[in-house]
Amino acid sequence: MLIPHARRPTSNVAITIASVALTATGFLLYHTWSDTDSWSLAKPLPVLTTSDGIPKKIWYKLGPKGLTNATRAWTNTCIDGNPGYAHEFMTDESGDAYVAARFASRPDIVASYLGLTIPILKADLLRYLLLVADGGVWSDLDVSCAGVPMDAWVPAAHRADAGLVVGWEFDVGWGENIIRQFTSWLIMARPNSPHLWAVVEDIVQGIQDKTAEHNVTVAGLQLAMVGEVVDFTGPRRLTRGVLKSLARSLNVTAIDQANITHLVEPKLLGDVLILPGFAFAASANTYDEKLRAGLGPPLVKHHYAGTWKNKNGGEVAG
Ligand SMILES: *[C@@H]1O[C@H](CO)[C@@H](O)[C@H](O)[C@H]1NC(C)=O
Ligand SMILES: *[C@@H]1O[C@H](CO)[C@@H](O)[C@H](O)[C@H]1NC(C)=O
Ligand SMILES: *[C@@H]1O[C@H](CO)[C@@H](O)[C@H](O)[C@H]1NC(C)=O
Ligand SMILES: *[C@@H]1O[C@H](CO)[C@@H](O)[C@H](O)[C@H]1NC(C)=O
Repeated sequence: MLIPHARRPTSNVAITIASVALTATGFLLYHTWSDTDSWSLAKPLPVLTTSDGIPKKIWYKLGPKGLTNATRAWTNTCIDGNPGYAHEFMTDESGDAYVAARFASRPDIVASYLGLTIPILKADLLRYLLLVADGGVWSDLDVSCAGVPMDAWVPAAHRADAGLVVGWEFDVGWGENIIRQFTSWLIMARPNSPHLWAVVEDIVQGIQDKTAEHNVTVAGLQLAMVGEVVDFTGPRRLTRGVLKSLARSLNVTAIDQANITHLVEPKLLGDVLILPGFAFAASANTYDEKLRAGLGPPLVKHHYAGTWKNKNGGEVAG
């Protein structure tokens, strides 16, 4: 049942059944990055001004096996292709230390994160926490860059405004009877994005609800108790939280899907830049021939290595 990053969208019908059954250039850095000093000090969360750009730092998270030949080659395409960007490979240990230090003022978040024992849930939550605290570029290990420098991923016209950059995983080519979601394998953000804060708050609330429902501690939560990972911490949680928060910030009851779907170019709403499906998920979107000719280039390739897909939500053996 565990499909952390599904290759196919879920249809609305399936969701209903399941829920019934289950119940750029020119950016200013606010901090000078090195590979070691970025998190070891308990810095306060930064105060942002709109002139701050997305920090030039790529965040990765290693599983217990570290890099494989394939993930090393894929991550190197992004690291070598963006020499102006720092990068950091978090580990289980450094991730725990990071969250404990950077979210010390939020003991509920620290307890939720440190208490979780299911690797996929921690890996999902960690990316949002890293981007909330420090901003930058989150990437899964099975993503390679397609040759366009990250500085050019946000069109110049939107650089002053884009505080969060997400890309559609499923947008075009699936019909309308799908649940659309943003990729969670690639997310870019300024620190302190209110929309990623909303995702974090929703996840912490979800953890509290599930521990209460099953009368267990956070450490006692098992995959079978949390429902679908994509909804609990994964891409659908990301998508719901961001769109809910964006609607709140725009004073509308909901974001009109017509404004953000079938994208053929980046769309800025408020401070959220939504990239078309071909940008982060070229293989998951199908455009008709006439359209395809005018589209921009894919920015990354997702290799669907599924390193978190074993039945316990952990790294695949071997
Ligand atoms: C990984 O690459 C190294 C160096 O090229 C090679 O010796 C090794 O056999 C490779 N391992 C796997 C599992 O392919
Ligand atoms: C919840 O678990 C605790 C400790 O395992 C137990 O003492 C308590 O009776 C349980 N409460 C309910 C409502 O099941
Ligand atoms: C939304 O409403 C609040 C309170 O009425 C107001 O202060 C704010 O300026 C509004 N924002 C937008 C984007 O219209
Ligand atoms: C969304 O679409 C509606 C209807 O086409 C339009 O009136 C509105 O201005 C759009 N809102 C945004 C934020 O693009």
